[in-house]
Amino acid sequence: MNLRNTLLTATVAALALASPGHAQQASRVSVSIDTAHPGPVIDPAVQGQFAENLGRGLYDGIWVGHHSNIPNRNGFRTDVLEALKQIHVPVVRWPGGCFADTYDWRDGIGPLSERPVGINTNWGGVNDDNSFGTNEFMNYSEALGADAYVSGNMGSLPPYTMRKWAEYITDGGDGAMARLRRANGRDKPWTNLKYWGFGNESWGCGGHMTAEYSTDLHNRYATFVNPAPGAPDFVKVAAGPHDDLYDWTEKLMQKSKDRLGAISLHYYVFPYGWDHKGPALGFDEDAWAITLEKARHIEELIAKHSAIMDKYDPEKKVGLYVDEWGTWYDPEPSSNPGFLYQQNSLRDAEVAALTLNIFHRHSDRVKLAAIAQMVNVLQAMILTKGDKMVRTPTYWVFDMYKVFQGATPYPVAIQTPDYRYGDHDVPMVDVSAAKAKDGKLYLALVNSDPHKAAHVVTGMTGSASGQILTGPAMDTHNSFDAPDTIHPVAFSGTKDGGKLAFDLPAQSVAVVEVRQR
Ligand code: AHR
Repeated sequence: MNLRNTLLTATVAALALASPGHAQQASRVSVSIDTAHPGPVIDPAVQGQFAENLGRGLYDGIWVGHHSNIPNRNGFRTDVLEALKQIHVPVVRWPGGCFADTYDWRDGIGPLSERPVGINTNWGGVNDDNSFGTNEFMNYSEALGADAYVSGNMGSLPPYTMRKWAEYITDGGDGAMARLRRANGRDKPWTNLKYWGFGNESWGCGGHMTAEYSTDLHNRYATFVNPAPGAPDFVKVAAGPHDDLYDWTEKLMQKSKDRLGAISLHYYVFPYGWDHKGPALGFDEDAWAITLEKARHIEELIAKHSAIMDKYDPEKKVGLYVDEWGTWYDPEPSSNPGFLYQQNSLRDAEVAALTLNIFHRHSDRVKLAAIAQMVNVLQAMILTKGDKMVRTPTYWVFDMYKVFQGATPYPVAIQTPDYRYGDHDVPMVDVSAAKAKDGKLYLALVNSDPHKAAHVVTGMTGSASGQILTGPAMDTHNSFDAPDTIHPVAFSGTKDGGKLAFDLPAQSVAVVEVRQR
């Protein structure tokens, strides 16, 4: 262990005993894990990423072009690519978002000098030279080892155009689209196209449709858009509801369930609502508490949408894909407000961990999720500035949680006090448990109280070790000047009356491997 990690580990130990400015006795929490009743496997795709053509998400964030001074591989910045590989990104959704329903894929193929310049009317009204198009996206997801999720334009282009796009990506034969792809430098079709979205937020930026109309359109487009003969199948994802728009789910299931493999759900945490979101840093405890309370609310939404789906699909063949989720704050001062660039702190790490734990508990329906967004936009993994890059606290949660990709979850019973602030009230501690693909048992533990440590006692014997993410302030974050302020450090279990226990500092997220005896 180097000096930096030794110091951080010592800090974590100190935080476990006395939290910042509010030394209080640790709260006792008890946890029991039911290994006799494993749940459905946690689809790796719940750790998916959303990469819209928005602000500096693609341009600057992952794509700098072949002639950039920033080190790159085929135009993809190397630092970001390598950092994303480390977290095992399972799937990337592109090109939107709202942008998807304005996008014509034909503008983004062929020689760069011949691609038309478009205007990104949703996001800042800036020009788009279309240098990041289908080949770039498919090659990037391939380089990441990720599946590709293409969001097709159902709002403003005919189904024929969408059909040709699927052909361009998947046809291994000698059709016109396969020839065009070859002329553009790609011989073999890509085989990692696993998901196809039909429109985005059709109730809003995707066309302000009614549920009935959107459902009919879905059926029409989904009839005509298919992989080329012999190509791997893709999951057809219908543009679904946001938040508690339950009627949308009902209509889709009533009229489309045989023409879709999944329904999307979008849920963002705006601390104080759309008109007053609040800052990403420098917030007070009320903002901390309301953000975590709203993050936890997704569990109720998933449960209720799932219950509607159960009526039509008791065998749970149709997935609920939370393909946009995360925190949405005021844009960083001095950034273009249309670019949705925001900093990311320990509070976002808590939101990420709590949300992933909820996905684990709903692994029967939630088979894919995509956090918004991968780089430089909203709750990002990575922020860039020129040739600099920082990994955010959210990135570190995804890094710690990658052991849960493909793991088998166990029900967890937890007795925990609540963390209360004003009118806001959430369970203080949240725990997820699963047997990973390597056969080992992992626990994820989240303490949402910004002042109090938790003494978590399990019913198991044995030992545990892993990593923890915490910091002295609620908005502890990494900046371009101090990119390593917060990162995971070593963390181990302790004993209480012969049982495995954890001294979990205030405002922390830990993932540990348990070695039972
Ligand atoms: O992620 C930003 C935007 O939020 C997406 O474009 C849209 O689908 C959602 O409203």
